[in-house]
Amino acid sequence: MSLLTTRQLVVNRLDLVYKNKRRLAAIFRTSVLAVGIFTLVIYYQSLRKLEIAGTQQYRDVKSILIWNAPERAEVVAFVNSARDGRNVFNSCPITECRIDLEASGTLDTYDAIVVNFNDQFRLIDLPEFRRKPHQRMVFFTQEPPPALKGYDFRRYANYFNWTMTYRTDSDIPLTYGRITKREKTLTNTEMASNSGNKTKLVAWMATQCLTDGRRESYVKELKRHIDIDVYGLCGRLSCARHPVDISHPRCYDKLESTYKFYLSLENSICRDYVTEKFFKIIQRRIVPVVYGGADYERIAPAGSYIDARRYHPAQLADYLRRLDADDTLYQEFFRWKKDYAVEAGVASMARRGFCHLCSRLHHDQTVKTYVDLTSHWQHPSDECQSPLEMNEFIFSLY
Ligand SMILES: *[C@@H]1O[C@H](CO)[C@@H](O)[C@H](O)[C@H]1NC(C)=O
Ligand SMILES: *[C@@H]1O[C@H](CO)[C@@H](O)[C@H](O)[C@H]1NC(C)=O
Repeated sequence: MSLLTTRQLVVNRLDLVYKNKRRLAAIFRTSVLAVGIFTLVIYYQSLRKLEIAGTQQYRDVKSILIWNAPERAEVVAFVNSARDGRNVFNSCPITECRIDLEASGTLDTYDAIVVNFNDQFRLIDLPEFRRKPHQRMVFFTQEPPPALKGYDFRRYANYFNWTMTYRTDSDIPLTYGRITKREKTLTNTEMASNSGNKTKLVAWMATQCLTDGRRESYVKELKRHIDIDVYGLCGRLSCARHPVDISHPRCYDKLESTYKFYLSLENSICRDYVTEKFFKIIQRRIVPVVYGGADYERIAPAGSYIDARRYHPAQLADYLRRLDADDTLYQEFFRWKKDYAVEAGVASMARRGFCHLCSRLHHDQTVKTYVDLTSHWQHPSDECQSPLEMNEFIFSLY
């Protein structure tokens, strides 16, 4: 009996323990669920708060007006990049901006008014209206000072707040391209080591045959020492054109598959002025021979180009022939491609520029006025090398 009782007791005990366990488990499950729901609610609320903060920061859409020359390639490329009628700034890090090619309200409603200076479209009148203190007048150009000779920059004293140009010291730099370090080095297989079957040495393509920088004199002399295939208005060959990018990708394909070198000669030798003639070529497997006023060492990796300004044309011809004869030496010119990427083309660079303008309108509250633009844009002697200087220098290397 006592034995039974003990047994019973044990069973009862066990039963109790078991029941308690189940109750505990239930309590545990309920509390886990409660804590879970609580956490979710807190998390959701904080998300909402973040969201509200985000929309508050950018709730106001900044408006940009293109005052003149909406035909300019950068504007066309950017505005046309909008997909299915959606806001063109959707492709930007900050999307709360709007761009008008024609004023849709009074001028004092715009956050920024972009005034385009170039040699193709004359600027007739500056916008005239009572300016609000927060409004920015933006000086826009992609042309070097010699192309802007027709303007009297004294008229624009104390007028512009920001500059948007190819110059690296612009408030909103809009360069023709850029070379940046890759996050991940390319492997040998990713690097197309085959340069194809290039059958020719040097190509040049130009539409302006008489330039401020006198590149034509350099080419004339160089031609006496080496064969050059000349495309465009200054030569007999032609290459597929593109409405926005000037030359068609097919044209660059042809240059890349045929030539080892391309003459990336700028028409003006001015500070920072380096155009698609350089970036569209260095983007491919051709070695650019540069002639311009930019600090190439700063914008491109060492061993990626040849600087014509360091050589007399006869010396340059010798050097190019030497590289032609030694493929190992020639291939060295593409080693940098493992570590760097090239961004070029009007559409891509214009997007970068206008996205930058948009975020700056949201983030920059500083007051700034250009008292004078003449030193950079009217007096090319400081900013640009005169052809005489260039040629005296180059031809003195004889
Ligand atoms: C180069 O030419 C060779 C033989 O003519 C051919 O087999 C090869 O596919 C060509 N390579 C390229 C990149 O065109
Ligand atoms: C823009 O320039 C004008 C004219 O000098 C000036 O009155 C205004 O304060 C400037 N605004 C900003 C936001 O820099």
